[in-house]
Amino acid sequence: MKEFVQYMPTKVVFGKGTEEETGRLIQACGASKVLAVYGGGSVKRSGLLERVRQSCEAEGIVFKELSGVRPNPRLSLAREGVEKAVSFGAELILAVGGGSAIDTAKAVAVGAANPGTDLWEFWSGNAKTSQALPVGAVLTISAAGSEMSDSAVLTNEETGRKAGFNSDIVRPVFAVMNPELTYTLPKYQLACGIVDILMHTLERYFTPVKGNELTDEIAEGLMRTVIRNGRRAYKDQTDYDAMSELMWCGSISHNGLTGLGRPKDFACHKLGHEIGGRFDEAHGATLSAVWGSWARHVWRLDTGRFAAYGKKVWNIESEEKEEAALQAIEQTEEFFRSLHMPVCLGEMSIGVQKEQVLREMADHATKGDTLKLGCFKKLTAQDVYEIYQAANHR
Ligand code: NZQ
Ligand code: ZN
Repeated sequence: MKEFVQYMPTKVVFGKGTEEETGRLIQACGASKVLAVYGGGSVKRSGLLERVRQSCEAEGIVFKELSGVRPNPRLSLAREGVEKAVSFGAELILAVGGGSAIDTAKAVAVGAANPGTDLWEFWSGNAKTSQALPVGAVLTISAAGSEMSDSAVLTNEETGRKAGFNSDIVRPVFAVMNPELTYTLPKYQLACGIVDILMHTLERYFTPVKGNELTDEIAEGLMRTVIRNGRRAYKDQTDYDAMSELMWCGSISHNGLTGLGRPKDFACHKLGHEIGGRFDEAHGATLSAVWGSWARHVWRLDTGRFAAYGKKVWNIESEEKEEAALQAIEQTEEFFRSLHMPVCLGEMSIGVQKEQVLREMADHATKGDTLKLGCFKKLTAQDVYEIYQAANHR
């Protein structure tokens, strides 16, 4: 087991009607002015935003809004949010929505605590900070896990680069999770979320460090739970129990627990961010489109690990390691297909790409082949190109 630090400071308030607790949770943080960040309107249509506002106002909290967050959230809106938060004197940034709203809220929290430095300096890694305003979240989609994670992903629309900022300072102080709030999700977003949750643990499971028994058992249990309840939820997204399991899995899958004691790989996330930043495709779809091609590119490095994944997660009985490993990859892709998620670029709305575009993406993702992606296999620009090529159409 590799050395690790475990830090999970988020207070989770889970269950029906918990959004009514938001005002009290903010008050307990000592904040009296809150900037609420949300997306394209789902939280207005559902009446959630109004309920959250009322719960804040009941505690005497002054409530201002920043709306218009889009999936693959934009740097420009986060910059606008920083100005708003500073001029208003916000003391806490509250996200009402999914990963995109939460990540924008995190960015505003960093920017407002560091008003002299442009946000992108932090996201491009040129500047560091240990300060951010506190962030709270009222979650409406089980997917990105941002409600407990140390990460915030923004897209710089001027360059098409999608990049993450990782620091414990952006872990939310509280997360309100009412599974009923996810009933209104479009089917496609539900499926994207299921893929993303599975991927957050898959990308922690395939690493070169061995011998983490408890972490493995937690990871395998989480993956089985996501698959079982993902199927149930996809059939009936008003199934409270299935939606609850998914919601909790979403948080646990990305708060660090399923990868304790080993490094994260996250190469598929980097490959996916390249597609998301360039073509504005939904995050989950960018992952299902590349995972199988990544797995076939790397599985021979540790056939036993892929076979163990097959046995523990997919119940594959074959004693033949190679066969079990390949079956595990196929079953994972079959699961993605059952959710109508793409397993290649050609099945996404962008369609099959020219070789030249794949080369450019590989080059961009590896910063001109100066950066190796992942750790299960450290991918060079050529590896990334070959994976994109294999993932182009199948
Ligand atoms: O904008 P609105 O109108 O709210 O609609 C949203 C949006 O169109 C809709 N939606 C959300 N909850 C809904 C709902 N529609 C109806 N009813 C509801 N209850 O769903 C769409 C997607 O929302 P979004 O917030 O983009 O989804 P998700 O949670 O998947 O977040 C994706 C973003 O998070 C990043 C991704 O890269 C992507 O930018 N990630 C963030 C991570 C983190 N911070 O730790 C880790 C992840 O790996 C990921 O990279
Ligand atoms: Zn993800």
